[in-house]
Amino acid sequence: MHEHDVVVVGAGGAGLRAAIAAHEEGADVAIVTKLHPVRSHTGAAEGGINAALREGDSWEKHAYDTMKGSDYLGDAPAIETLTKDSPEETIQLEHWGMAFSREDDGRVSQRPFGGLSFPRTTYAGAETGHHLLHTMYEQLVKRGITVYDEWYVSRLAVTDHDDPEQRDCHGVVAYDIKSGNVEGFVARNGVILATGGLGQVYDHTTNAVANTGDGAAMAYRAGVPLEDMEFIQFHPTTLPSTGVLITEGVRGEGGILYNSEGERFMFERGYANNVGELASRDVVARAELTEVNEGRGIDDDHVHLDMRHLGEERIMDRLENIVHLAEDFEGVDPLEEPMPVKPGQHYAMGGIETDENGETCISGLYAAGECACVSVHGSNRLGGNALPELIVFGARAGRHAAGTDLGEAEITTGRTEDTEPGEVETPVAPGAVETDEDVAADGAGETEADGGATLADPGQTVESAVQNERTRVERLLEKDEGIQQAEVREDLQETMTDYVNVFRNEDGLKQALAEIREVRERYQDVYVNDPSRTFNTDLVQTIEMRNLIDLAEAITLGALARDEFRGAHWRQEHQERKDDEWLKHTLLSWNRGDPELWYKPVILEGEEKEYEPKVRSY
Ligand code: FUM
Repeated sequence: MHEHDVVVVGAGGAGLRAAIAAHEEGADVAIVTKLHPVRSHTGAAEGGINAALREGDSWEKHAYDTMKGSDYLGDAPAIETLTKDSPEETIQLEHWGMAFSREDDGRVSQRPFGGLSFPRTTYAGAETGHHLLHTMYEQLVKRGITVYDEWYVSRLAVTDHDDPEQRDCHGVVAYDIKSGNVEGFVARNGVILATGGLGQVYDHTTNAVANTGDGAAMAYRAGVPLEDMEFIQFHPTTLPSTGVLITEGVRGEGGILYNSEGERFMFERGYANNVGELASRDVVARAELTEVNEGRGIDDDHVHLDMRHLGEERIMDRLENIVHLAEDFEGVDPLEEPMPVKPGQHYAMGGIETDENGETCISGLYAAGECACVSVHGSNRLGGNALPELIVFGARAGRHAAGTDLGEAEITTGRTEDTEPGEVETPVAPGAVETDEDVAADGAGETEADGGATLADPGQTVESAVQNERTRVERLLEKDEGIQQAEVREDLQETMTDYVNVFRNEDGLKQALAEIREVRERYQDVYVNDPSRTFNTDLVQTIEMRNLIDLAEAITLGALARDEFRGAHWRQEHQERKDDEWLKHTLLSWNRGDPELWYKPVILEGEEKEYEPKVRSY
C-alpha cells in the first residue's frame, strides 16, 4: 500500500499545477497517471492562455466576455476567480521559463480569439499546451515530486453511506500497466482528480485516445453529481479525416472561412455581422454545418479555412505547427491552398461538480481542469479559457488539499435549500443494468463513534477497494469469450455523433438513449482477448469503456432534459434561451445505479456587480 498526503490523479496541466501547489504548501504529494506526464493531452493544446496582462485590458473585461460566452450559465464567483488569478498564474509560467511568443519589444505576445473584446490570448506559437506541460514537468522534477506513471486509476476508495454527502474519500486503486498489479494508494489529506476530457465518447474529436473521462465517471459512481453534462463544445476547425485541431489562432491572426461558393459566409450569410470568423465557437460551428446542410459545403462535408494571405513569414513565425499538422494529417500545404475544416468534439463544459477550491461534496475528493465543472464555462467555453482554468483551479485545489485556508467558497456543492428536483421522460431506463451494481460501496463500511459520527479506517477502506478491483480485473481476464470493447465503443461513438452532436432534437436524443442502453447491456458480456499481465491495453480500454457508457448517458440525459437553446446546446424544437426557466445548472446523481436529475441556480452575482443576461450576438 502506498501512502501520501495528497494523491493527484492525472498529469496534464491541472494535475501538474495541483501537485506543485500542494508540494509548495509542504504536503507529501504523488501523481498517479495512466500516461507519462509529457504525453498528457494538455500537450495538444494549441491556441493559448487568456490573461488580462496589458494596459487597456482588465480582469473585469475578461470576466464579462467569459460570462457572455457562457450564455449566462457560468457562475460569477468562479469566473471572477479565473480572470483575477489568470495573470499571476501566467506570469508564474513565464518565470518558470515558459517560451512564450514575444513582440519585437520583448513583451509576451497576445492575439485575438473568438468572443474576446481584447486580444488577450497569450501563446507560444501554435503549441502553447506543449510548452506549458514541459515547463511544469521541469518544476515537478526539480521538486522531486513522486510520479507513478503508467498506473491506471480505476477505482476510488470511498466509504459507504446512504447519503453520498456523508461519504469520505481515502484514496484510490490503480492498475500498474507495466506489471499488471492492482495496488492501493492512501491519501491522508485528499485525492485530486485531474483526468481531463471525455472526447472518446464521440468518433470525431480533437481529443486523444486516452481521453475517456475516467475521473468524471468514477466520481459519478462514487456519489458526486455531474454538472451541466449536456454542454459539449464542437470546435469549428478540425481536419476532416482525423479530427486533428487547427487552432482558432489561425482565425485570430486573420484566417478566413469560405463555403463552396467562395463566400465569406460568416459575414455574407449574416451569422456574425460584427466579428465574423471570431464569433464564439458555438456560433461558428453551427454556421459551418448550416452551410454544409444547405448545400454550400465542400464535398458535402466541410468548409475551407484560408490563411495564405497572411504570408509565409508571419505564418511560420506564429503558426508553424499548423503547417505541419495540415501537411501530415490532411496532405494539404496551407501556404499554397486552403485547409478543409469541419466541427469536431473538443471539450466538455460539464463535469464533476466542485466549488472554487476544487472540493466536491464528498470529503477528501477534489477535481480540477476539464474533468471538473466549477463552473466557469457555463454552456459554451471561450477559446483560450481552458489553459487558465487548469492552472488557476489546479493550484487552488492543490493548496486546499494540502491544508491551506483559501476562505469559504461561494459556490455550494451537493444539495442545499436552493436545489430543486428534476424530471425527464426517457424511452428506456438509464443507469445500472443490475441492481446494486457499482454502488459507492467500495469501502470498508462505517464504524459509529463520537455520538454517531461516521468513521472508517482509511487503510481498510482502500484495502477493501483494492480487493474489489482485483476481483473485477481477474473476472475480466478469466473470461474467454463474449464481446470485445472495440465493437461496443464504435457503436457508442456513432450513436453520439449521429444524435448528440451540434444539432439535437427530442426524437434523436431518445433514440440515443435507447442505443446507449443497448451498448450498456452488450457490455455486460465484455471480455478481454489479451490474457497477459504486461501492458495489457485491451484490459485498460475495456475498463475505460464502462466510463464512456456512463458519461454518454449523462450527456444525453442532460440534453433531453434541457428544452431550450443555450450556448452549445441547440434544440430543434426549442429555438430560444429560456431565462425564466433555465438559469440553472443540470445535476445528475448516480444514486446507486438509478440516475437522478436535479437543478441548482446559476450565480450571476459577482463581487461588484450582477451580470444581467443579454441577447448574445457577435
Ligand atoms: O483553437 C485552439 O487553439 C483551442 C484553444 C482552446 O480550446 O482553448
